[in-house]
Amino acid sequence: MTFALRPTLPADALAVHAVMMAAGMDPRSSWVRTSVADVEWSLGKGGGVLALQEGVAVGCVGYRPDGFRTLTLNKLATRPEARGRGLGTALVQAVEQQARAGGFGRVLLAVSQYNLGVISFYERLGYVVSTDCYAFAHPDSPPPVVLVKTTGGPL
Ligand SMILES: CC(C)(COP(=O)(O)OP(=O)(O)OC[C@H]1O[C@@H](n2cnc3c(N)ncnc32)[C@H](O)[C@@H]1OP(=O)(O)O)[C@@H](O)C(=O)NCCC(=O)NCCS
Repeated sequence: MTFALRPTLPADALAVHAVMMAAGMDPRSSWVRTSVADVEWSLGKGGGVLALQEGVAVGCVGYRPDGFRTLTLNKLATRPEARGRGLGTALVQAVEQQARAGGFGRVLLAVSQYNLGVISFYERLGYVVSTDCYAFAHPDSPPPVVLVKTTGGPL
């Protein structure tokens, strides 16, 4: 089954939220307390990409600038039944493409201390653990692990 990617619209906040909540994240992570309003607000700070399969949202990712050189990636999720077919990779690459188009030199993301298993997924895509800060870290959560990938623009 193929999927289509398209930029998110403000009205997609509900669909993005539903995919995020279906992702099976650890209940201790701030992710599971994210509201639809939070999603709409966050996407409005940058943008996002929605993955659709036969019109149903099966994956999502968001992005938000941190200054002029860094595009942060957030809210990456695919529905469990859609996994292992390259959808997560395609969504990450869509954000990297957005970074290049916007002249951002790198993509930066944060992995929750409750989700460290996903680090190898990002490392396979060329991301490297960094000592940089994630500007939008949740104040009540343990400090996340930050990963960065250079995307070719100015650093
Ligand atoms: C991470 C995620 C988006 C990957 O989606 P996907 O559609 O399965 O991605 P792809 O098909 O492109 O890649 C799958 C590969 O990544 C690996 N992978 C995915 N999640 C992984 C994890 N948590 N730990 C280790 N490996 C993982 C799979 O084992 C698979 O490897 P394979 O190709 O050797 O079989 C999906 O697992 C997900 O939504 N997880 C829950 C939410 C999450 O952790 N988001 C990241 C927040 S920082």
